[in-house]
Amino acid sequence: MLNIAVLVSGGGTNLQALIDAQNRGEIKNGRITCVISSNPDAFALERARKNGIAARVVSRKEYVDIHSYTRAVTDALLEQKADLIVYAGFMTILDSQIVETFRGRMINVHPALIPSFCGKGFYGLHVHEAVLESGVKLTGATVHFVTEDCDAGPIIMQKAIEIKDDDTPETLQKRVMEKCEWVILPKAVSLFCEGRIKIAGRKTVIS
Ligand code: GAR
Repeated sequence: MLNIAVLVSGGGTNLQALIDAQNRGEIKNGRITCVISSNPDAFALERARKNGIAARVVSRKEYVDIHSYTRAVTDALLEQKADLIVYAGFMTILDSQIVETFRGRMINVHPALIPSFCGKGFYGLHVHEAVLESGVKLTGATVHFVTEDCDAGPIIMQKAIEIKDDDTPETLQKRVMEKCEWVILPKAVSLFCEGRIKIAGRKTVIS
């Protein structure tokens, strides 16, 4: 059974999707053992506590730079004996120390179809604003491995939806979450825990 640690910063609806999947028995060979938040006020912390999951705050504001903050998060994850680390709405870009420690064991959910609308500055609602401004007809979500380059690690799973003429950033965000993120994130987590995802260069192969 793998120990799953979930990193959060806000509402935690992706964390909730993972908890719900776990309760339905859909996370095979893994268990969410801790939630770490960069923000002491994140509602995600409530969701963890309500479900009996250890919740911990490693506040970004308490560290002078990203290097010392990354060290603190890495130490917390080592202490928790995390086998898989899931970035679920985690809004801080950590430096390469963490990738060196947990290479191939960290995955992120991004609210767009990578390699579009990703990288520095593309997070939360900003992603959906940029998608609507661009005029693309499809968007979606991506689950990928975390590497040194922001939002550029091997892709595990993607799901697309059509954009409607009357979409706003808010309606699009809601649909991408419900139809894409909350569906593919638990699936990818379970596949990882079952040892069914292999990294082959820039690609992944699912068995
Ligand atoms: C989600 O849409 C997630 O994909 C996104 O923030 C939202 C968090 O919602 N993450 C990023 O933009 C990171 N680049 P949640 O806290 O309700 O899961």
